[in-house]
Amino acid sequence: MATRTRIVSTGMYVPSRVVTNRDLEELMDTSDEWIQQRSGIKERRWVSPGETTRGMAASASRQALERGKLKADDIDMIIFGALITDYIFPGTGVLLQRELGFSKPVPALDIRNQCSGFVYALSVADAWIRSGQYKRILIVGSEIHSTSLDLTTRGRDVSVLFGDGAGAMIVEACDEKTPHILDSCLHSEGKFADALTVIKPSANDFPRLSENTKFDTSIYPHMEGKLVFKNAVTRMCEVMTELLDRNHLRASDLNFVVAHQANMRINQMVLGELGIPFEKTHHTLDRYGNTTMATIPITFDEAVQLGKIKRGDLVAFVAFGAGFTWGANLLRY
Ligand code: ACO
Repeated sequence: MATRTRIVSTGMYVPSRVVTNRDLEELMDTSDEWIQQRSGIKERRWVSPGETTRGMAASASRQALERGKLKADDIDMIIFGALITDYIFPGTGVLLQRELGFSKPVPALDIRNQCSGFVYALSVADAWIRSGQYKRILIVGSEIHSTSLDLTTRGRDVSVLFGDGAGAMIVEACDEKTPHILDSCLHSEGKFADALTVIKPSANDFPRLSENTKFDTSIYPHMEGKLVFKNAVTRMCEVMTELLDRNHLRASDLNFVVAHQANMRINQMVLGELGIPFEKTHHTLDRYGNTTMATIPITFDEAVQLGKIKRGDLVAFVAFGAGFTWGANLLRY
């Protein structure tokens, strides 16, 4: 019988510090009304001094391990993703491995796919497990945005959207009869790479940094908001249709959709276009903002804990982000 991949358990972590839209009004020329109306975000979490990407990743991972009744050494591969990492190198995957206290030298892979990182990572994990190379994989997205945002009026179009947090998922080998991951569709379009970026510090600067290096605003995220918005709606609809068509399914066959949480208006348009009722989804955007690669596992975890997603449900994950990169997974939970 062919090997397939099942979801064992999930975990999440968000910092305890709540930053409301009103708090942002103190820092920049913005308003609670603008932020809620344009994005659907009411508040987000920001780290406090001492919290790290790897620390948040470890907290989310420990919760997933506990819920799966597993120990770190039961994992034989780590896939980690973050947009801005603890170190330039090495990747945070090995820092997480150290943090979790593995006794074996299990491999750790870092991926850089921003908001669609989790759908990419799940597809990679599924392929590895189906090939027989690994049996149980820990996938983690952990993001600290708050320390790298331009918190002045100059950066308000981006800064109000992002929050900090981590989400973890453990997947393992199973047989075909067990509910499992069915398919993944992944895409990218590098011609839009500059539409959503943090450019500095860059390897192309010579020297990269020196005593004379002037402060440069390209250390902050830059986003062409309307272009990203338009492409997010188009591509998320397209990739969902591709995924459903090639599995001979209709949108109405899905029990639940976990969509990336960048903007409530994007998700309303995508779900509306696909004809998926709002009861078949869950949102964390209002409370956590956009946590990039952590968003899908956080949102899935909450939906499972709330009993909105049940074992046996047919579920799709869909995400779009910087690159542009986008993709979707189809699974029987
Ligand atoms: N507060 C108040 N006013 C603001 C703010 C703010 N925080 N930000 C921008 N404005 C102003 C603008 O300056 C502009 O003013 P002007 O008309 O005087 O020039 C006005 O509000 C309207 O700005 P728009 O850009 O037209 O606003 P829009 O309705 O497009 O919404 C937003 C902006 C929310 C950023 C939207 O474009 C968006 O959500 N884009 C997509 C985000 C996304 O999907 N990101 C993808 C994933 S991220 C990743 O992968 C890392």
